[in-house]
Amino acid sequence: MRKKILFVCLGNICRSPAAEAVFLDLIKARNLEANFEVDSAGTGAWHVGNQADSRMRDAASKRGIIITSRARKITPEDLVYYDLILTMDSDNLDNVNSLAQGLAGNKIAIIKQVMSYACQYSEVDVPDPYYGGEKGFERVLDLLSDACNGLLEAIS
Ligand code: 4NP
Repeated sequence: MRKKILFVCLGNICRSPAAEAVFLDLIKARNLEANFEVDSAGTGAWHVGNQADSRMRDAASKRGIIITSRARKITPEDLVYYDLILTMDSDNLDNVNSLAQGLAGNKIAIIKQVMSYACQYSEVDVPDPYYGGEKGFERVLDLLSDACNGLLEAIS
Protein backbone atom coordinates (compact mmCIF):
# COMPACT_ATOMS: atom_id res chain seq x y z
CA MET A 1 0.00 0.00 0.00
CA ARG A 2 1.28 3.41 -0.98
CA LYS A 3 1.66 5.74 1.98
CA LYS A 4 -0.09 9.03 1.25
CA ILE A 5 1.56 12.13 2.68
CA LEU A 6 0.35 15.75 2.49
CA PHE A 7 2.57 18.68 3.52
CA VAL A 8 0.69 21.81 4.62
CA CYS A 9 1.61 25.48 5.12
CA LEU A 10 -0.30 28.76 4.83
CA GLY A 11 0.02 29.83 1.19
CA ASN A 12 1.27 26.59 -0.43
CA ILE A 13 3.84 28.60 -2.38
CA CYS A 14 6.93 28.46 -0.10
CA ARG A 15 7.33 25.89 2.68
CA SER A 16 5.00 23.02 1.82
CA PRO A 17 5.87 22.85 -1.90
CA ALA A 18 9.52 22.83 -0.82
CA ALA A 19 8.80 19.99 1.65
CA GLU A 20 7.02 18.04 -1.08
CA ALA A 21 9.96 18.49 -3.48
CA VAL A 22 12.61 17.67 -0.85
CA PHE A 23 10.78 14.48 0.14
CA LEU A 24 10.22 13.49 -3.53
CA ASP A 25 13.91 14.04 -4.19
CA LEU A 26 14.84 11.72 -1.30
CA ILE A 27 12.51 8.92 -2.37
CA LYS A 28 13.57 9.20 -6.03
CA ALA A 29 17.23 8.86 -5.00
CA ARG A 30 16.33 5.66 -3.13
CA ASN A 31 14.00 4.28 -5.82
CA LEU A 32 11.08 4.37 -3.41
CA GLU A 33 8.67 6.46 -5.49
CA ALA A 34 6.22 3.59 -5.92
CA ASN A 35 5.77 3.40 -2.14
CA PHE A 36 4.49 6.93 -1.67
CA GLU A 37 1.95 9.46 -2.88
CA VAL A 38 3.06 12.97 -1.97
CA ASP A 39 1.34 16.36 -2.31
CA SER A 40 1.14 19.74 -0.59
CA ALA A 41 -1.61 22.25 0.17
CA GLY A 42 -2.22 25.55 1.94
CA THR A 43 -4.70 26.53 4.61
CA GLY A 44 -5.24 29.83 2.73
CA ALA A 45 -6.56 30.30 -0.82
CA TRP A 46 -4.77 33.50 -1.96
CA HIS A 47 -2.33 31.75 -4.27
CA VAL A 48 -4.46 28.87 -5.60
CA GLY A 49 -3.27 27.81 -9.06
CA ASN A 50 0.06 29.64 -8.77
CA GLN A 51 3.54 28.19 -9.09
CA ALA A 52 5.68 28.22 -5.97
CA ASP A 53 7.33 31.55 -5.11
CA SER A 54 10.30 32.14 -7.44
CA ARG A 55 12.61 32.78 -4.44
CA MET A 56 11.72 29.33 -3.06
CA ARG A 57 12.16 27.68 -6.45
CA ASP A 58 15.53 29.38 -6.99
CA ALA A 59 16.87 28.40 -3.57
CA ALA A 60 15.76 24.79 -4.10
CA SER A 61 17.13 24.54 -7.62
CA LYS A 62 20.57 25.60 -6.35
CA ARG A 63 20.44 22.38 -4.32
CA GLY A 64 19.28 20.35 -7.31
CA ILE A 65 15.68 20.21 -6.12
CA ILE A 66 12.99 21.20 -8.62
CA ILE A 67 9.66 22.46 -7.28
CA THR A 68 6.87 21.92 -9.82
CA SER A 69 3.66 22.01 -7.78
CA ARG A 70 0.79 24.48 -8.14
CA ALA A 71 -0.89 25.90 -5.05
CA ARG A 72 -4.16 24.48 -3.81
CA LYS A 73 -6.18 24.86 -0.64
CA ILE A 74 -6.56 21.91 1.73
CA THR A 75 -10.06 20.37 1.89
CA PRO A 76 -11.71 18.27 4.63
CA GLU A 77 -11.58 15.34 2.17
CA ASP A 78 -7.77 15.52 2.29
CA LEU A 79 -7.92 14.53 5.96
CA VAL A 80 -9.78 11.34 5.01
CA TYR A 81 -7.68 10.58 1.91
CA TYR A 82 -4.14 11.07 3.26
CA ASP A 83 -2.44 8.85 5.87
CA LEU A 84 -0.14 11.52 7.23
CA ILE A 85 -0.55 15.32 7.17
CA LEU A 86 2.56 17.27 8.13
CA THR A 87 2.24 20.95 9.01
CA MET A 88 4.96 23.59 8.83
CA ASP A 89 3.93 25.59 11.90
CA SER A 90 1.60 25.52 14.86
CA ASP A 91 -0.97 27.83 13.19
CA ASN A 92 -1.19 25.40 10.27
CA LEU A 93 -1.55 22.56 12.78
CA ASP A 94 -4.44 24.34 14.56
CA ASN A 95 -6.14 25.06 11.25
CA VAL A 96 -5.88 21.47 10.02
CA ASN A 97 -7.07 20.15 13.37
CA SER A 98 -10.10 22.43 13.19
CA LEU A 99 -10.99 20.94 9.78
CA ALA A 100 -11.03 17.56 11.50
CA GLN A 101 -13.85 18.64 13.80
CA GLY A 102 -16.42 18.29 11.01
CA LEU A 103 -15.30 14.75 10.24
CA ALA A 104 -16.41 12.84 13.32
CA GLY A 105 -16.89 9.16 12.55
CA ASN A 106 -14.36 9.13 9.69
CA LYS A 107 -10.94 7.57 9.90
CA ILE A 108 -8.60 10.50 9.31
CA ALA A 109 -4.90 11.16 8.79
CA ILE A 110 -2.35 11.40 11.55
CA ILE A 111 -1.74 15.16 11.77
CA LYS A 112 1.56 16.44 13.17
CA GLN A 113 4.31 18.99 12.72
CA VAL A 114 6.92 18.14 10.10
CA MET A 115 9.70 19.24 12.47
CA SER A 116 8.72 16.45 14.86
CA TYR A 117 10.81 14.24 12.52
CA ALA A 118 13.93 16.45 12.60
CA CYS A 119 17.13 15.05 14.08
CA GLN A 120 19.65 17.93 13.85
CA TYR A 121 17.40 20.92 14.47
CA SER A 122 15.23 21.52 17.54
CA GLU A 123 12.87 24.05 15.91
CA VAL A 124 9.19 23.23 16.33
CA ASP A 125 8.08 25.42 13.40
CA VAL A 126 9.47 26.00 9.91
CA PRO A 127 9.48 29.84 9.89
CA ASP A 128 7.43 31.56 7.19
CA PRO A 129 10.00 33.04 4.74
CA TYR A 130 7.51 35.05 2.63
CA TYR A 131 8.18 38.54 3.99
CA GLY A 132 11.88 38.04 4.66
CA GLY A 133 15.12 37.80 2.68
CA GLU A 134 16.99 35.09 0.83
CA LYS A 135 18.40 33.58 4.04
CA GLY A 136 14.89 32.60 5.15
CA PHE A 137 14.47 30.39 2.11
CA GLU A 138 17.82 28.69 2.75
CA ARG A 139 16.76 28.11 6.33
CA VAL A 140 13.49 26.51 5.18
CA LEU A 141 15.49 24.07 3.03
CA ASP A 142 17.96 23.26 5.83
CA LEU A 143 15.12 22.50 8.24
CA LEU A 144 13.10 20.53 5.70
CA SER A 145 16.07 18.43 4.57
CA ASP A 146 16.59 17.37 8.16
CA ALA A 147 12.88 16.72 8.79
CA CYS A 148 12.32 14.83 5.52
CA ASN A 149 15.35 12.61 6.11
CA GLY A 150 14.03 11.83 9.58
CA LEU A 151 10.56 11.20 8.17
CA LEU A 152 11.84 8.72 5.60
CA GLU A 153 13.90 6.92 8.24
CA ALA A 154 10.87 6.73 10.52
CA ILE A 155 8.35 5.40 8.02
CA SER A 156 10.32 3.17 5.65
P1 4NP B 1 3.97 29.62 2.78
O1 4NP B 1 4.37 31.18 2.78
O2 4NP B 1 2.85 29.47 3.79
O3 4NP B 1 5.22 28.94 3.22
O4 4NP B 1 3.53 29.29 1.37
C1 4NP B 1 3.46 32.21 2.59
C2 4NP B 1 3.08 32.56 1.32
C3 4NP B 1 2.21 33.61 1.12
C4 4NP B 1 1.70 34.30 2.20
C5 4NP B 1 2.07 33.94 3.49
C6 4NP B 1 2.95 32.89 3.68
N1 4NP B 1 0.81 35.39 2.00
O5 4NP B 1 0.47 36.05 2.99
O6 4NP B 1 0.41 35.66 0.86
